[in-house]
Amino acid sequence: MGIKDLAPNPHRFLGEEMKKDIITLGIESSCDETSVAVIKNGREILSNIIDTQIPIHEKYGGVVPEIASRNHIEAISRVTKKALEEAKVTFDEIDAITPTYGPGLVGALLVGLSYAKALSFAIDKPLVGVNHIQGHVAANYITYKELKPPFLCVMMSGGNTQLVHVKDYTEFEVLGKTRDDAIGEAFDKVARVVGLGYPGGPKVDKLAKEGNPNAIELPKTHFENLDFSFSGIKTAVINLNHKTPDINKADLCASFIKTVTEILIENTRKALKQANVDTVVLAGGVSASSYIRSEFLKLEDDIGIKVYMPDLKLCTDNAAMIGSAGYYNFINGFRSDLDLNAIPNLKL
Ligand code: KG4
Repeated sequence: MGIKDLAPNPHRFLGEEMKKDIITLGIESSCDETSVAVIKNGREILSNIIDTQIPIHEKYGGVVPEIASRNHIEAISRVTKKALEEAKVTFDEIDAITPTYGPGLVGALLVGLSYAKALSFAIDKPLVGVNHIQGHVAANYITYKELKPPFLCVMMSGGNTQLVHVKDYTEFEVLGKTRDDAIGEAFDKVARVVGLGYPGGPKVDKLAKEGNPNAIELPKTHFENLDFSFSGIKTAVINLNHKTPDINKADLCASFIKTVTEILIENTRKALKQANVDTVVLAGGVSASSYIRSEFLKLEDDIGIKVYMPDLKLCTDNAAMIGSAGYYNFINGFRSDLDLNAIPNLKL
């Protein structure tokens, strides 16, 4: 038998009977979106139903965990049914059930996870837990069929900000992370103090387009390593807004985005050298920011690297990215037991 015959077969876990396509059922309920998706071979969306709770939480100015859990409970069965119908796939045709099991709000995570466990038991299909952050990375595999690790991922979401060396589909090394607020938290807080409401990121991004990014100088915190800090700049914006109520809000938002983008790009340049890769992949809700996207594209031209950024619809939470990450976990042999628990602070 030659080496070619020994090469890993991506479909090897299905046993004797070779199957052409692998179908995963992604289930996402880590925060305020109840989402279920049917994914073919990790890259193709057959359905991706997202039931958002944003209008419910809007009036509280942020996500209320208890309310999120209750709404997930009401939605999960309906959303699953819709995802299967839209994909024209039956339970029989699913190869693995792949729910998010962390990080996120524990009560919210438990709804999707418990539903997935019950389903796995009832239809006798493997359960494969997915790390939500891994899911954000995988959103890019759906957008770019040709994208393969290794690469550097700039993870910027509501709960996380990290520079991750993605060595393989299921192998990650965190090179740097925030020591305090996630970048999305800073966006949401800035939006709240300038009176834009929740969720703040898209609103700050929009208003910033009318402002001058060089109008206001804001502080940056530097570390020896590749860590980040966003609480200093967030506090500076809050204080400026309180002390000078008639400050131009568009200038404030534009200057805020410009400064946080500079922080991201400075660390990205260093991380590219450390990881010795020439591909950057953006991920997470904040990667929907038009300013951040355009600055990273300039970096592409500047230093001759390739920059990938997820389709706008896949930047924020969705189950398609979870079903994609679940596929890679599945074909790499990962399986979860029915005692899998939700882990609110799960790391990569
Ligand atoms: O990735 P995500 O949906 O949730 C987590 O997994 O944490 O990220 C949500 C974050 C929120 O802070 C939201 O304000 C921010 O992403 N966000 C944006 C934009 N769209 C969503 N931030 C900046 N510009 C946007 N267009």
